[in-house]
Amino acid sequence: MAEAAAINRRALQAVEAIMAPGVSTAELNRIAEDTIVSLGGRPAFKGYRGFPATLCTSLNDVVVHGIPNDRLLRDGDILSIDIGTFFRGYAADMAKTYAIGTISQEAQRLLDVTEHSLFAGIAAIRVGGRLGDVSAAVQAVVEEAGFWVVREFVGHGIGRDFHEAPEVPNFGRAGKGPLLRPGLVLAIEPMVTQRQTRVKILDDQWTAPTVDGSLAAHFEHTVAITKDGPRVLTAYDPEPFAVSGGGVHGA
Ligand code: MF3
Ligand code: CO
Repeated sequence: MAEAAAINRRALQAVEAIMAPGVSTAELNRIAEDTIVSLGGRPAFKGYRGFPATLCTSLNDVVVHGIPNDRLLRDGDILSIDIGTFFRGYAADMAKTYAIGTISQEAQRLLDVTEHSLFAGIAAIRVGGRLGDVSAAVQAVVEEAGFWVVREFVGHGIGRDFHEAPEVPNFGRAGKGPLLRPGLVLAIEPMVTQRQTRVKILDDQWTAPTVDGSLAAHFEHTVAITKDGPRVLTAYDPEPFAVSGGGVHGA
């Protein structure tokens, strides 16, 4: 799973390198797919329940599951990129919301708080603790900042499949829920909106914007629980890119 995560991260770095006003989300998708495939991985989302692309590209008021298209990025957009990879039968999943050019202070605060909530959720992991510790930690950071935790979508366990039990809500009560134990791997993925609102699904069956036009942010890491605590497999700057056993080579 760490190797799948390394490929995922590499592909996201390639996307970041070309992300700018004037670039289409379809172009970002092509770069991501080329990178995953060239490193020996397989895009996890493409073909999943008919999803047509390697990336989810969710702009502005879209919470998740935006489909890459010819829309060009514009100064002031916020763009959530969600990316999943299979490598040798194991999955990794990550997401991050980016500022395109200059964004409003309030949009930047939404990004910062959402990322912080993810880190707080990860930091709440203790062997012998409960999943609700993670959920409650995420929710507290979001609500203290005056933002809203999306209820319609949740994180998930991950392993041979990219959606496994348990569900990982971004709201809940500390001390409740499944036991956290070594070997469990979680995709923790807070989705946060500016205002209390709901999410709808467009006619394309995927794109999930807020009903009130609130901006949305989404950050996700794949986190393994080890006997020493959490290990963030998709961390942005871990050890230099190198994976064991061949099959993937630093490009
Ligand atoms: N990270 C998202 C999730 O866990 C990505 C799924 S996109 C899909 O649900 F297209 F594959 F559904
Ligand atoms: Co996920």
